[in-house]
Amino acid sequence: MINPLRGMKDLMFEDSQRFVHIITTAITVAKRYGYSYIETPILEETALFRRSVGNSSDIVSKEMYQFEDKGGNDVCMRPEGTAGVVRAFVSGKLDRQPAKQKFYYYGPMFRYERPQKGRLREFHQFGCESFGEASVYEDFTIITMVGQIFNALGIGFELKINSLGCPECMPPYRQNLVSFLTDISEDLCADCNRRIETNPIRVLDCKNEKCQSLLAQSPKLIDKLCKACDTDFKKLTSLLDDAGIAYEVDTNLVRGLDYYNKTAFEFVSNEIGSQSAIAGGGRYDKLVEYLDGKPTPAVGFAIGIERIMELVQMPEREREGYYMGAMVPEAVEKIIMLANRKRTSDKVTVEYSSKGFKSHMKGVDKAYARYAVLIGEDELANNTVWIKDMESKEEKTVAYTV
Ligand code: HAM
Repeated sequence: MINPLRGMKDLMFEDSQRFVHIITTAITVAKRYGYSYIETPILEETALFRRSVGNSSDIVSKEMYQFEDKGGNDVCMRPEGTAGVVRAFVSGKLDRQPAKQKFYYYGPMFRYERPQKGRLREFHQFGCESFGEASVYEDFTIITMVGQIFNALGIGFELKINSLGCPECMPPYRQNLVSFLTDISEDLCADCNRRIETNPIRVLDCKNEKCQSLLAQSPKLIDKLCKACDTDFKKLTSLLDDAGIAYEVDTNLVRGLDYYNKTAFEFVSNEIGSQSAIAGGGRYDKLVEYLDGKPTPAVGFAIGIERIMELVQMPEREREGYYMGAMVPEAVEKIIMLANRKRTSDKVTVEYSSKGFKSHMKGVDKAYARYAVLIGEDELANNTVWIKDMESKEEKTVAYTV
């Protein structure tokens, strides 16, 4: 028997219903905010992720599903959605249009991580990317949109925010941080030591408890932001206060992807174990330029679908559509014709074998149909059908024509 690969899952029945419910709810909210659907390829040139997510990030350095295709091209299964959407924005020359563009997407992402609860190798994201809007109002709006999606799904969350500064305030801060880290390097873990060289900001995100206690004294970027970044971050917090959205400023929130500047945020749930981030995002004003487009400010987010599956409150199931069956073999084909006609507008479950009344009524409950429609001997003789409304319990016999 061939099973799915490690860290990959089939979704069916209750799980796939949850999946569809999450996606349709998120789409409904995203459309209200003016987002339109974008579909980009799962396979992209590896260079795209190297240049966007960043060579020194864990995602690119350790977790890529990367291979050479039959034409000798270095390709990669996308580990996230933003890079592909930005690539499409530039390839489609949308950077040369004055209009602001907003896209939503959903689909599978691939990261060769060590699988555990809430961490898969193939997982799904729903994401949004907004191009052309430099205002911090857009950061606020995007955060409220994620909150609205979670509210609509009945999911509780905590919001963490931080600012990652800009090319003016980040480099001097980075230098400052590197000298602090170099001084304490002997006591930091091997991963942190490697990162001091390659990506010092990511040291702040180390999960090792000893490192975290040493890092409590580290310089904080939030105290060293330039005037523009500081004003924007204060504006963001005051907007969130005014909107009554609770948040925590987490100075260690640096995100695992290198393209962010200014606003970074994560939504976490304390009900799902250690992999608690249910959505993440932020501003990435330089990425369009890095990928050879005209400078275009941008901000976005992605929700991890599998992580919120068990948190979602599903709407109460309602009886729906028709169950149709024959109680004499001669009526089977009439039932099939009737069902096909009805299916132009309604959900119909059809039983192909002729059965007794009780057996059909069990089928009605199993299909959770609103109406039972049966043809027995009398109905066949009179060209009628027997219908029962399973909610009002009303029964009637009506003329039947195909
Ligand atoms: P990310 O934080 O890497 O951001 O991923 C977003 C969400 O995807 C996470 O919060 C988590 O819920 C889910 N996720 C990530 N890795 C896994 C995994 N191995 N298994 C299950 N779920 C996972 C991004 O991907 C950015 N592209 C978000 C963004 C969009 N930023 C701006 N625009």
